[in-house]
Amino acid sequence: MAWLWGKSANGFGASTTAEEVTEGIDASGRTVVLTGGFKGIGVYTARTLASRGAHVIMAGRNMTDGTAAREAILKDFPQAKVDIMELDLASLDSVRAFAKEFSSKDLPLNILINNAGVMACPFQLSKDGYELQFATNHLGHFLLTNLLLDKLKATAESTGIEGRIVNLSSAAHMWTYRGGIRWGKINEEEGYHKWQAYGQSKLANICHAKELARRLKEEGANVTANSLHPGGINTDLHRHVGGILGAAVRLVGLLRKTVPQGAATTCYVALHPNVKSVSGEYFVDCNIAQPSSYAKDAELARRLWDLSVEITSKS
Ligand SMILES: NC(=O)c1ccc[n+]([C@@H]2O[C@H](COP(=O)([O-])OP(=O)(O)OC[C@H]3O[C@@H](n4cnc5c(N)ncnc54)[C@H](OP(=O)(O)O)[C@@H]3O)[C@@H](O)[C@H]2O)c1
Repeated sequence: MAWLWGKSANGFGASTTAEEVTEGIDASGRTVVLTGGFKGIGVYTARTLASRGAHVIMAGRNMTDGTAAREAILKDFPQAKVDIMELDLASLDSVRAFAKEFSSKDLPLNILINNAGVMACPFQLSKDGYELQFATNHLGHFLLTNLLLDKLKATAESTGIEGRIVNLSSAAHMWTYRGGIRWGKINEEEGYHKWQAYGQSKLANICHAKELARRLKEEGANVTANSLHPGGINTDLHRHVGGILGAAVRLVGLLRKTVPQGAATTCYVALHPNVKSVSGEYFVDCNIAQPSSYAKDAELARRLWDLSVEITSKS
C-alpha cells in the first residue's frame, strides 16, 4: 500500500524500491562494508548494491545466516562480489577484531553502512557492560566507524570518489528519554524503558552522523556522513514487540513498506549522485527530512561524541 504515498521532486518517495533508486548506477569499483547484512533490509541492501556491481562485505554475528545470505545473492546474481565477515557490535573487542581483519585484506573502502540494530529488548548489558541497545546500535558502530575512517579517507583521496558513511536511524529517535540522552544513567536498570532506550540509541545514530559530518568538513575530507529512517518494514527487528503494540504492527502490516522499499533510502544515500557532497543530513523516503530538536542540537552531539570516545577507548 506504500504505492498510495506520493513522490517528491526527485521522483522518489515512500513507494520507491531499492532497484528503482539505483537504476542505471554503475557501482563497480565501489567497496562497501554493511553491518547487519545477513537479515532484513540489510541483506536486501547488500543484494541491490552487489547487483549494481559493488563489492559488498556483509558483516554479522551468525555466520550460518551469513553463508545462506551470500548464497542466495549469488544464486540470483552469479557475478556478484559478496563476502561475509564476523562482527558482533555488542562486543567492542569483536569490533576491533573485525577492523583488524578488514585491514589485513588491504581492500579499498568507499561506503560504510551502519545498518545493524536491535529494538526494544528487555534490559540487558553488552559484553562490555553497556545497555544493549545503546551498545549495539550506537557504541559498536561509533567504534567501527572510527577504526575504518582512515581507510575511507585514503580510498576517497586515491580514487577521487567521495566516501560515504550511512547510519540507519529511525523515526523512533523522537521517543527518546527526556533530555535526549540519559547522561550518567545509560546503564542503570532502574528507569530503563525499552522504547525510550531504542529512541535514545537511534537519536545517537543521527547525532553521530551529524558530528562526524562536521568534523569531516572541518578537515576537508572527501567523505560524507548522513543518517536515515528507512520506513516501517516488517522484519525480525520486531521480535521483542508483543502485546497490543505487536498486534497493531501486524494489523497495519499492509500499510508498511515492503523490504525492497525499506532498502531504498539506504541505497539512495549510499549511491545516488543527487547525494554528492550532502553531509550531516537526515533522510526519509529518499529525501532530506527534519529530525527532532534533540537531533539538531550540536552541543548534544558533541557531548555524545566525547562520551563515546571515552567509552570506546577504555573498554
Ligand atoms: N524494520 C523497521 O521497521 C525499521 C524502522 C526504522 C529503523 N529501522 C532500522 O533499520 C536497521 C535494520 O533493521 P531491520 O528491520 O532490517 O532489522 P532485522 O531484520 O532485525 O536486522 C537487523 C540486523 O542487525 C543484526 N544485529 C543485531 N545485533 C547485532 C550485533 N550485536 N552484532 C551484529 N549484528 C547485529 C541482526 O543480526 P541477528 O540476526 O544475528 O540478530 C540482523 O542481521 C536497524 O538499524 C533498525 O533500527 C528499521
